[in-house]
Amino acid sequence: MAKILVTGGAGYIGSHTVYLLLKNGFDVTVVDDLSRGHMHNVPLKRLRELRLQDTEALVDLCDTVKFDAVIHFAAYIAVGESTEQPELYFSNNVGGSLSLFTAMRETGVRRLVFSSSAAVYGTPKEVPVSEDAPIAPVSPYGESKAMVERMLRWLDEYSGLRSVSLRYFNACGAEPGSGLGEEHEPETHLLPLVLRAVLTGEPVTVFGDDYATPDGTCIRDYIHVSDLARAHILAVEKLLEGAPSDTLNVGTGRGYSVMEVLRAVEKVTGKKVPYKIGPRRAGDPPELVADPGRLKRTLGWEPEYTDLERIVATAWEFEQAKKENK
Ligand code: UFG
Repeated sequence: MAKILVTGGAGYIGSHTVYLLLKNGFDVTVVDDLSRGHMHNVPLKRLRELRLQDTEALVDLCDTVKFDAVIHFAAYIAVGESTEQPELYFSNNVGGSLSLFTAMRETGVRRLVFSSSAAVYGTPKEVPVSEDAPIAPVSPYGESKAMVERMLRWLDEYSGLRSVSLRYFNACGAEPGSGLGEEHEPETHLLPLVLRAVLTGEPVTVFGDDYATPDGTCIRDYIHVSDLARAHILAVEKLLEGAPSDTLNVGTGRGYSVMEVLRAVEKVTGKKVPYKIGPRRAGDPPELVADPGRLKRTLGWEPEYTDLERIVATAWEFEQAKKENK
């Protein structure tokens, strides 16, 4: 079976992908510096704790294992933090990627799936957003992803590196029975914050209710993390078959407002969500929904979770289990 190097495999989306890769019989090695990821997310014998910027260590690892492909998640992901410390984001996300690509070149690894983001579109003019929409990030985080995508285009042309960049919309949920789930520190994402509000009674803040949307709150395309993980497996398989480089949105094509998320949580938990309305958060586009047509056509991908309440139920199960284990 193919040997896959997964960077950032101890993080939220990375660990779900590792789980699925192992289930599908791939030979997986995870590289993670554990600065944001969690050791408990990965089988210990699969984990190599090292920094992506350590090119020499990566070269050693790639020389020893002879990977067929890399799935590259390792990156910082907090949009707000990236505006406070842009240097950190360029150094970690762009510098780390460059170090990885250098090591891949030196050791002849020529296939890569890259974890990109809908953040490369900034505030899109048209929704649903297709891959041909202008690249116009509005944060250093989004810019860091756009820069790596651009780098990959040149490496495709001149270094023979074939890659698929997957532009994620809003990942959420958890794979039932896996023990994995969303555990960012600090947490900034809507669904875990709403679930915690239910558990603690502390109100969650809705960032703005005066947007030009039907209920005034922002609309996002919430995609279940296992559907997202599956897109990586399909992409890596396609690359291993010899497919050319590509860039693909990964979303469901259906948007839900913040208030709709709150209502779905109330239905699933049977409890009222304590919340208050706050000001808008800087940089939030009113509506961000994917056109996933290209992903469906190219990889034959379809989401298994099309219903928001089912997605919420998996995240709720994880939050409750976490609380019980504390
Ligand atoms: N929201 C709230 N209250 C909160 C947190 C979020 O109202 O406490 C709202 C946001 O304003 C937004 C929606 O819930 O409308 C979703 O917010 P998230 O922070 O969960 O996710 P984002 O859409 O901001 O971010 C996601 C990814 C980022 C990526 C971005 C692209 O998590 O990595 O999409 O725009 F950069």
